[in-house]
Amino acid sequence: MIMGLSMTTTSTLFYIAFLTIAAFHNCFYDGSSNIVCFETERQALLNFKHDLKDLSNRLSSWTGQECCQWAGVVLDNLTGHVHEIHLCNPYGNYGTRGEYETYLRNMLGGKINPSLLDLKHLHYLDLSCNDFGNHIPNFIGSIGSLRYLNLSYAGFSGIIPHQLGNLSMLRYLGLCSVFDVYGELELRDDNLQWLPGLIS
Ligand SMILES: *[C@@H]1O[C@H](CO)[C@@H](O)[C@H](O)[C@H]1NC(C)=O
Ligand SMILES: *[C@@H]1O[C@H](CO)[C@@H](O)[C@H](O)[C@H]1NC(C)=O
Ligand SMILES: *[C@@H]1O[C@H](CO)[C@@H](O)[C@H](O)[C@H]1NC(C)=O
Repeated sequence: MIMGLSMTTTSTLFYIAFLTIAAFHNCFYDGSSNIVCFETERQALLNFKHDLKDLSNRLSSWTGQECCQWAGVVLDNLTGHVHEIHLCNPYGNYGTRGEYETYLRNMLGGKINPSLLDLKHLHYLDLSCNDFGNHIPNFIGSIGSLRYLNLSYAGFSGIIPHQLGNLSMLRYLGLCSVFDVYGELELRDDNLQWLPGLIS
């Protein structure tokens, strides 16, 4: 019994140690072990945040210099550039009424600021399960470094901009939508020609 308890405690400590190391690996250190964010990229993220509606304060950590510690932001561990933005709603939209309300409350909304174009090394952008309630901005097709783009269930409606076809590195694209008050995403025939290169 005592053995069992101490095993659990040991694994818990290992787990905490692992989480700590994982958190540090998300940060980029210069020679003097300061955490470095590129100032243009930090500003780009702050401008992006500024135009978002964030009623549940999911982005409250997006403040100060150390953008590697901001929720949903992943820097490349070698170059220090912003590589990934994970802003998928952390709550599922199924289950009880209470869970559904939590899901709704945690939706981000507002405008997608073109400052994202300043993130020249952005590989991964997940904006799924939010409520932007507008057309997909054309400029997303100009974030040429994207490999993964998920705009599913994000409240986008209207015609999918053909500019997304310019994302030549893109391998995963999520564009599921549900019919809601805003209407549905529309894929026009003349859009289809750029789809075959994508896996998903
Ligand atoms: C850096 O990231 C790559 C994948 O992006 C990973 O394979 C590698 O192990 C990481 N290195 C360190 C030191 O965390
Ligand atoms: C993006 O694609 C459109 C055609 O869909 C093309 O006219 C335009 O020149 C492209 N822009 C860039 C920056 O590649
Ligand atoms: C996109 O996001 C939705 C909702 O979060 C998820 O179910 C889906 O698997 C994602 N698509 C890809 C290609 O990762």
